[in-house]
Amino acid sequence: MLDQVVRDLDQARTRTLGLTDLDDPTLVAQHDPLMSPLVWDLAHVGQQEEFWLLRGGDQGRPGLLEPAVDSLYDAFKHPRADRPALPLLPPVEARAYDYEVRGRVLDLLDREPDRHLFAAAMVVQHEEQHDETMYATLQLRQGTPVLLARRSLPAGRPLRPDRVRVPGGPFTLGVDAISEPTSLDNERPAHTVDVGPFWIGRVPVSNRQWQEFMADGGYRRPELWSASGWAHRTEAGLQRPLFWTAQGTRRRFGNEEDVPPDEPVQHICYFEAEAFARWAGARLPTEVEWEKACAWDPAAGRRRRWPWGSAPPGPERANLGGAALRPAPVGAYPQGASAYGAEQMIGDVWEWTSSDFTPWPGFSPMIYRDYSQPFFGGDYKVLRGGSWAVATTAIRPSFRNWDYPIRRQIFTGMRLAWDA
Ligand SMILES: [Fe+2]
Repeated sequence: MLDQVVRDLDQARTRTLGLTDLDDPTLVAQHDPLMSPLVWDLAHVGQQEEFWLLRGGDQGRPGLLEPAVDSLYDAFKHPRADRPALPLLPPVEARAYDYEVRGRVLDLLDREPDRHLFAAAMVVQHEEQHDETMYATLQLRQGTPVLLARRSLPAGRPLRPDRVRVPGGPFTLGVDAISEPTSLDNERPAHTVDVGPFWIGRVPVSNRQWQEFMADGGYRRPELWSASGWAHRTEAGLQRPLFWTAQGTRRRFGNEEDVPPDEPVQHICYFEAEAFARWAGARLPTEVEWEKACAWDPAAGRRRRWPWGSAPPGPERANLGGAALRPAPVGAYPQGASAYGAEQMIGDVWEWTSSDFTPWPGFSPMIYRDYSQPFFGGDYKVLRGGSWAVATTAIRPSFRNWDYPIRRQIFTGMRLAWDA
């Protein structure tokens, strides 16, 4: 596992440096009040790596940075909106700091190979999550493009029927340290849950379906929306997904283009997803239903590591890693189907579920005690499956993401579900 973790650390860093290979004004600017300046993310990944690996998660242990500088990168102390005003390390110093930390971390892993594997895997996932956040920042940024798509995607295909049936019965929800050593606290422990039968969309909802919803007055009909959803729609003036224009085009990383009808819809908030589902005579899946449809193998009576089996995700099965800069068209991955026939559950777009973010029974926090625990409760909705910008090391069928129901700068889409 050590060799793998070292490779994963290296891969995450390559991605971070690629995403921040930009001029200083672009790195230092705040492109949207929701996001940090990129230079904050750049030093924060190193600061967290130092904190969890070199300082053993102990605030009292001195680090490489002056305490006043170190604390600038504490996400809990400084909300994103305040970060541009902080005396942050300039880009060249942030890179040098990351480089210094990484050298010491590799020495540590060499000296004590077994002791720090989980913390190192957690640090990999943390950096990869920030890389996805940096894609979101660059999507919000105005101006000429700075990112190029470096991977072409497979073509979609027509899908009939549009849904698959998942029979009722118990399955194993969540994972353990043995089966998924890099899983985080909120994915554990594995436990048996009984789920009633349901239908779930074979693929995520497409832009074509979203255009039909809009043409049918989806944003003007309060009966389709929940009370809080309609209040938000009215207050925020929502009329179409984020980055779509009134002319029927959309902005992607500085380019304006026609909306591709067969691509999964992106940049919708939970309330929009809820309204679309009601319009379609459906509902959102719960996260438990989602995970069963994704990971359970009813013939074998056990979970699969990935929807399709145990082979790691490759370009023929899932769109991950960010190089494509967009989701693949629906139907692009027949080889990525789950045991029940659901496709594109991993990669492409994060999928809103109807579930609040709560702990599984028997939850216990990991070394990073505040990773999940402060966020449990009714304020956040769970998202599943990862997006095109997620790294393979930072997604699994059990992986749980959460955000406020009004958020749509993240790469969010949805999949329908129906009672059976
Ligand atoms: Fe972070």
